[in-house]
Amino acid sequence: MSQTIRKAVFPAAGLGTRFLPATKVMPKEMLPVVDKPIIQYGVEEAIASGCDEVIIVTGRGKVLMEDHFDISFELEHSLAQRNKPGLLKTAQLVARMAHVSTVRQKEPLGLGHAVLMAKRLVGNEPFGVILPDDLVDSPGNPCLKQLIDVFEEKHASVIATQIVEGKAISAYGVLDAKPVPGFNGRLYEISDMVEKPKFEDAPSNLAIIGRYVLTPRIFEMIETIKPGAGGELQLTDALRMLLQHEKIYGYVFEGKRHDAGDKLGFLKATVEYALEREDLGPDFLEYLKSLDLNHMGRGKK
Ligand code: G1P
Repeated sequence: MSQTIRKAVFPAAGLGTRFLPATKVMPKEMLPVVDKPIIQYGVEEAIASGCDEVIIVTGRGKVLMEDHFDISFELEHSLAQRNKPGLLKTAQLVARMAHVSTVRQKEPLGLGHAVLMAKRLVGNEPFGVILPDDLVDSPGNPCLKQLIDVFEEKHASVIATQIVEGKAISAYGVLDAKPVPGFNGRLYEISDMVEKPKFEDAPSNLAIIGRYVLTPRIFEMIETIKPGAGGELQLTDALRMLLQHEKIYGYVFEGKRHDAGDKLGFLKATVEYALEREDLGPDFLEYLKSLDLNHMGRGKK
């Protein structure tokens, strides 16, 4: 069977205020985890999942992202002249890894609205959504691919989910869902969902994580919903409405997710990704072991 999901949408128009002043000029999606901008991890995941079209929903001041995935003639020329084949390959790969289009979200009206901006570029076919702040490390089987596999069997929208214990659940969209037999106990059929509920009101501990495979009917739903949590057009509310027409599944993906949109999450991702690197891991580990951790980390500044 040919690949049914070819396009991946990346909502990347947010202001990144949690990282000021670093993000005053630079898009937060361009902050590097080790040596790669956050968004590149997502784009590589989409490609490894079989997508060949990347649609980035950008906002004001986000042109750096377009440049990043474009050919830098000067850089490539200079690396070739200086006989740096390794670096040249790295620079070339970024520009040639996928067909990238961008569309602007002119007003910050929420995640649902950002996805709606991709309607024309997506057209009438199912598509993936990757929230670039959510880094998912799942070697061997990329998170989006795991959802695509479910989609190809169920022919319905699929949302990545993971268990979040305690009050932290209030920072997420939360599913009301029942397990479906098979799929190693990872698949749930969703009956309802709510965006950022109070802890007491959360219907379960199954949090929505930033990977989705959606049917194109979602656009119609986004066009109908009213502003929800935070006064924004929420994707969760549009999905809730979609439930009245189609089944939606939640899939407890295999892999480790980092919230790189949060300072602590970003630091954890940096440490773990660096430790996994062949070229850096051993030396970095030695360094970490040499730290006198009992006398550090109390916070002075
Ligand atoms: C968004 C979604 C939310 C989801 C979260 C995952 O929220 O609206 O449902 O749980 O991403 O990262 P945000 O974190 O953008 O406020």
